[in-house]
Amino acid sequence: MYAKFHSIGAYVPSKVLSNADLEKMVDTTDEWIIKRTGIKERHIAQSDEVTSDMAVKASILAIQRAGLDVSDIDLVVCATVTPDYFNMPATACIISDKIGIKNVQAFDISAACSGFIYALSVAKAFVESGMKKHVLIIGAEKFSSIVDYTDRTICILFGDGAGAAVISATEDKNEALIDIHASADGSYSDFLVTPAPGAVHPASQEVLDKGLNFVQMKGNETFKLAVKTLTKDVKDILAKNNIESKDIPHFIPHQANYRIIKAVGDALKMTKEQVVLTVGKYGNTSAASIPMAINDIYESGRLKKGDLMLLDTFGGGLTWASALLPFAGETIE
Ligand code: UT7
Repeated sequence: MYAKFHSIGAYVPSKVLSNADLEKMVDTTDEWIIKRTGIKERHIAQSDEVTSDMAVKASILAIQRAGLDVSDIDLVVCATVTPDYFNMPATACIISDKIGIKNVQAFDISAACSGFIYALSVAKAFVESGMKKHVLIIGAEKFSSIVDYTDRTICILFGDGAGAAVISATEDKNEALIDIHASADGSYSDFLVTPAPGAVHPASQEVLDKGLNFVQMKGNETFKLAVKTLTKDVKDILAKNNIESKDIPHFIPHQANYRIIKAVGDALKMTKEQVVLTVGKYGNTSAASIPMAINDIYESGRLKKGDLMLLDTFGGGLTWASALLPFAGETIE
């Protein structure tokens, strides 16, 4: 039995936070943000719109586009670092309930920006082992809930959103996911961290006073390591599978920073047409970034049935991952 990438869906909240808006909030400029990151705007969820709400909208689309009923889904995996609740129940359980998926195994994955490819690897293993037939995987983030909007080094980067895919069993090897690399190095855990609440810093007045509930990042160090690690990882996965970068119509990297994407794309000698870019309009949506980008090229008609995709990502943990796979869904009409 093989696993195939059966469908994609995404949800983008309607509220836009532009660079001009941020200029009024912190000491920054549109010019600095675009030059250093490529980001022009990002979307922010409403105050009463939580991670599971966005995930549900993306998931319903993905299930419909796979031509399935919710009762066909036999595993739900949600990648998020901005769950509805720290730390239980899992957001996957809440999503299942809101969609009407009953009595099915559901759990979250915490791998920050690498979460969606981590979830893909879990789905692949469950499907190939014969344990599950149709796995709903989700990357969903309400990053605005952990961003300090007085910190100019962080608040310009992140946005909210959700993406979802159905990974299904198939006997046709041509449709199958080809390969996934996923890795981690906890010795860099202080590069990207939300210090509280957790066992190290349980909720307290001190946590609030010091803003330990907000995400912190060693941006420049993370940037350098991301370029080095991703370049090696994508070269390795291509070489291992005897595929050349020119044969990849869609290189879909994690959308953290245009300069990281460009550096890795250039190292692979990718053309502009091959590289999918959504960072300008969505910012960094962490685990949601790759499925939102896949959905973008799907809905615009660029992604066709059978097209090869190369995914790569890097994030808190530190974690990183890449995946090589054909799109096995139906081309949009
Ligand atoms: O998704 C998970 C993985 N995350 C990433 O891969 C993100 C990786 N990092 C980055 O994308 C970049 O490091 C940033 C965009 C976060 C920062 O860009 P940078 O080129 O690494 O800038 P920097 O941190 O070295 O800062 C350069 C200068 C500093 O001023 P001084 O010390 O040179 O006077 C910062 O204080 O830019 C200043 N700065 C800003 N200036 C205007 C930092 N943020 C801003 C800002 N507006 N928003």
